Amino acid sequence: MCRPTLFIITFLILSGNMLAQQLPPMSDKQAQTVDSIMNLMTLEEKIGQMTLFTSDWEMTGPTLRDNYQRDIRQGKVGAIFNAHTAAYTRELQRLAVEETRLGIPLLFGYDVIHGYKTIFPIPLGEAASWDLEAMKRSARIAAIEASASGVHWTFAPMVDIARDPRWGRIAEGAGESVYLGEMIAEARVQGFQGNDLSAPGTVLACAKHFAAYGAAQAGRDYHTVDISHRSLYEIYLPPFKKALEAGAATFMTSFNELDGIPASGNHFLLTEVLREQWGFNGFVVTDYTSINEMVLHGIVADNKAAGALAANAGVDMDMQSAAFYDYLTELVEEGEVSEEQVNAAVRRILYLKLVLGLFDDPYRYSDIKREEELVFNPAHQEEARNMARESMVLLENRDRTLPIQSDVQSIAVIGPLANDPPQMMGNWFAAGDGNSCVTPLAGLEEAMVGKAVVRYEKGCEIDADSEAGFADAVALAEKSDVIVAMMGEGGWMSGEAASRSELGLPGNQLDLLKQLKAIGKPLIVVLFNGRPLTINWLSENADALVEAWFPGTMAGHALADLLTGEHNFSGKLPVTFPRNVGQIPIFLAMKNTGRPMAEIKYTSKYLDVPNSPLYPFGYGLSYSRFAYEPIEVRSATFSIDEEVEVSVGVTNLSDKTGTEVVQLYIRDRIGSVTRPVRELKGFQRVELGPGDRKVVTFTLTTDDLAFFTRDMSYQAEPGEFDVWVGGNSDTDNGTVITLTP
Ligand code: NOJ
Repeated sequence: MCRPTLFIITFLILSGNMLAQQLPPMSDKQAQTVDSIMNLMTLEEKIGQMTLFTSDWEMTGPTLRDNYQRDIRQGKVGAIFNAHTAAYTRELQRLAVEETRLGIPLLFGYDVIHGYKTIFPIPLGEAASWDLEAMKRSARIAAIEASASGVHWTFAPMVDIARDPRWGRIAEGAGESVYLGEMIAEARVQGFQGNDLSAPGTVLACAKHFAAYGAAQAGRDYHTVDISHRSLYEIYLPPFKKALEAGAATFMTSFNELDGIPASGNHFLLTEVLREQWGFNGFVVTDYTSINEMVLHGIVADNKAAGALAANAGVDMDMQSAAFYDYLTELVEEGEVSEEQVNAAVRRILYLKLVLGLFDDPYRYSDIKREEELVFNPAHQEEARNMARESMVLLENRDRTLPIQSDVQSIAVIGPLANDPPQMMGNWFAAGDGNSCVTPLAGLEEAMVGKAVVRYEKGCEIDADSEAGFADAVALAEKSDVIVAMMGEGGWMSGEAASRSELGLPGNQLDLLKQLKAIGKPLIVVLFNGRPLTINWLSENADALVEAWFPGTMAGHALADLLTGEHNFSGKLPVTFPRNVGQIPIFLAMKNTGRPMAEIKYTSKYLDVPNSPLYPFGYGLSYSRFAYEPIEVRSATFSIDEEVEVSVGVTNLSDKTGTEVVQLYIRDRIGSVTRPVRELKGFQRVELGPGDRKVVTFTLTTDDLAFFTRDMSYQAEPGEFDVWVGGNSDTDNGTVITLTP
């Protein structure tokens, strides 16, 4: 294999200038082509295009069907998911192209969520980097690898705002902030799709799960959602809108109901909002069996009625329910669903097959040579290492415990996450090979060659009671200079169908940590997990505490880069860490209430825990020490069509180069409806060498101050706004600006 060429290919593909642009409607020429195909199609063949089945390679939902190959041959399925590799997709594509009457190529979908084979940190971890360009590159690399393995369409990004860490799928998104969520949605869509869907190395993106899936009651997956119309527009829809504006070609419905109507049968969401208000030109796929699930929701009596509800609401493609497959012909013949509705859906699906170039060459994505060259190549792994480094957050560092000092001669690596390669990938790892992950132990061993002895004891399991390994772990710790404990959740404990009601370390990990602490050696704890955990004891007792999420393929190297001080921490939390589960939901953009917490009885607070979180949104330490000068504003009074420049000087007072994520927050003091106490509205990653000072400037427009006002019009209201700039959301470096009428 010729490596230099590979690097060049990757660089060229990555460096393309990506401009956000909504997926355009079909051109006249495209419409002619699509119509010429549709004119040949029977109703059954059209319905086949609206049907998506899983292969039996992977199970990502409750049911499998038998013999999808037969369905392909009969032209009864137009898209397949969970089938990948150039060889297998070629084999299936051949059935569609050569054995069906019209030879319409299949579309192959797959959950390429944080990498295809080169696995990047889980999306929540990537979000902690606040590095939009790096996230774009990560999505791009995922697309390059997946598309070389026959995949045309990723079921990503998940752009659900999530404010309840009990919900396991918080791991798959960008966290709690609407603004950060919007920026990341845009970056990821651009990364997956590039600016030319017909170019090699791009895949269709799918903004999911439309909508408000993250608001499941009590953080229980698939549970009921009951939110206000205002919250829907203000909190849950904006990242979807951004994804659409960035060109997202497809949308996936969510499992939950909204205002009593499940999303897959929700005409308001799928037609009024998505098509009529937003002008979406791509197609809508349901989530896995979610059409049939409308029967259990109790909104229709049987699958046939569910199919009618979905089609009439605006669903274009049925994932795995087979409701369209089984009943749509009948429904059209009976007049329950119009043929125009079917034609519109098929037209959208064929449009995207055309855009991808599948009618020119149905096998163009299934190229064994490209697959060999591009998948898991060293340049991609290097990028994953960089992303993993940027994703990790330093939560505590007492007495400069980190970086590991040069006089440390022996390190005790302890814990169930230290040497378990597949766990490093977390959830949804596509074609990732767990055994190719660099473990924290391997990473540290390699980094410490010639510097310190690294020895390992597991100590305990991830989620069990046995203390059989404690004594050996304690003995090793006693004879070592420092302890590095790799603790946390298993990769399976977050993601879909992985809600938790307690958020402490699972099993008896904390008991072991307490015994290690009692030894009196410096205790460095690294956490691997897919959500905020309740870690009060660790916060108070660990000498250093690192939030590593699930870092992916290059986990161990990235971690060692940071622990040794070869690189600096720069990650900041994209989500609030609660003190206990009782505080949930707890997030930055809460409302003030009429009785904000005070030292008197009748105010909004708990008897047993403060209102403040353990770690606020945007929090994260560095080996550098950044000092902020007071915020400065040019023309603090401004009118609706003016902009405000907000600047702040930041200096690196340390002798280490570091990157600081400078964050801007606002509060609208009085609105026609109540406004959050703080909202993120801007951020910049700034690298500063030792002693360097930079002035960081943000330009606020009235659009940044706008919200859905009392009559639901989107606008900024004149009045006073607090503005703060700092290194996390708790900053008091603020001033007031005034928008004049
Ligand atoms: C169900 C999940 O909710 C969705 O995110 C995923 O894309 C599909 N299964 C397909 O695996």
